[in-house]
Amino acid sequence: MEFYMAPLEGITGALFRKLYQKHFYPFERLYTPFFGNTGFNTKEMRELDATEAGGVPVIPQILSNKAEDFLLIAGKMKDSGYTAVNLNLGCPAGTVVSKGRGSGFLKHIDALDTFLGEICEKSPLPISVKTRIGFDDESVWPELLSVYNRHPITELIVHPRLRTDLYRPPVRTDAFAYAYQNAKMPLVYNGDINTVEDYERIRVAFPEIRAVMIGRGILRNPGLLGEIHGKAPVTDRQIRDWLTDLCAQNLAAYTETPTLYKLKEIWSYLQERYPNRKKELKQLFKAKKLYEYENAMAAILG
Ligand SMILES: Cc1cc2nc3c(=O)[nH]c(=O)nc-3n(C[C@H](O)[C@H](O)[C@H](O)COP(=O)(O)O)c2cc1C
Repeated sequence: MEFYMAPLEGITGALFRKLYQKHFYPFERLYTPFFGNTGFNTKEMRELDATEAGGVPVIPQILSNKAEDFLLIAGKMKDSGYTAVNLNLGCPAGTVVSKGRGSGFLKHIDALDTFLGEICEKSPLPISVKTRIGFDDESVWPELLSVYNRHPITELIVHPRLRTDLYRPPVRTDAFAYAYQNAKMPLVYNGDINTVEDYERIRVAFPEIRAVMIGRGILRNPGLLGEIHGKAPVTDRQIRDWLTDLCAQNLAAYTETPTLYKLKEIWSYLQERYPNRKKELKQLFKAKKLYEYENAMAAILG
């Protein structure tokens, strides 16, 4: 069983991936948040260089419903040195769905079939897919899976929720079990692995899957992957060293405001570890200046 880092837009950018791999038990593969534009802006250009982290491959993700655009972006990914691309068929954001992209594409199964045919035939790089199991009706999942099975998709990462579920628990494990029985390509499970027990449940139920992909679980507990591998839980000191490194490296590339924004995004999950630090956490989220953030962090982590 392998372990993949999930793409989290606004959080798991190049610096996050590099420093997570350096400070904690490393993943075997890392997926970028989606690239959705054919012309790359400065931020995207900066992200493009990060084809690996600590010797582990990074797979860039593309969000598109136009074969021509997908192929153009995939070509740029190849030129940048990547060896595979991933297609986003899960994003539930209203602005994405309304354009028929991400999970919005799951409403148009025939168009998706045609799109997959064209990109799989012409893509300069192998394509994997990350998908939800439907838009608002789970009964389409067998049909959707049979479409995926018709194309040479290298790997299917399934987050077993509908778009209308957003991120609400529980995940629809039965739909994943259906894929486990019927998918023709290697399968990856994604969704709500937050503890060692969550992982064990998936491993026992689906022993033949290629990998599990974990996102928010490593923000809630950065030591989760280590614990799954039998290591001791991480200490507050390790978390502090990681966040200090992340802060310094972000400041070398960005200004104070976006750096603070990114760190607070991480803390919006990490705060669950510190239920008795409500006052300090409030100060951390209120911080407008770096020193205010650092003081609040020191009060929580020592
Ligand atoms: C803030 C945030 C940003 C996300 N960005 C992406 C993204 O860019 N591409 C993608 O495929 N999924 C994205 N996702 C979905 C996650 O990759 C993952 O499928 C989902 O969070 C379930 O897995 P988890 O419970 O391990 O986090 C995002 C989720 C969150 C919460």
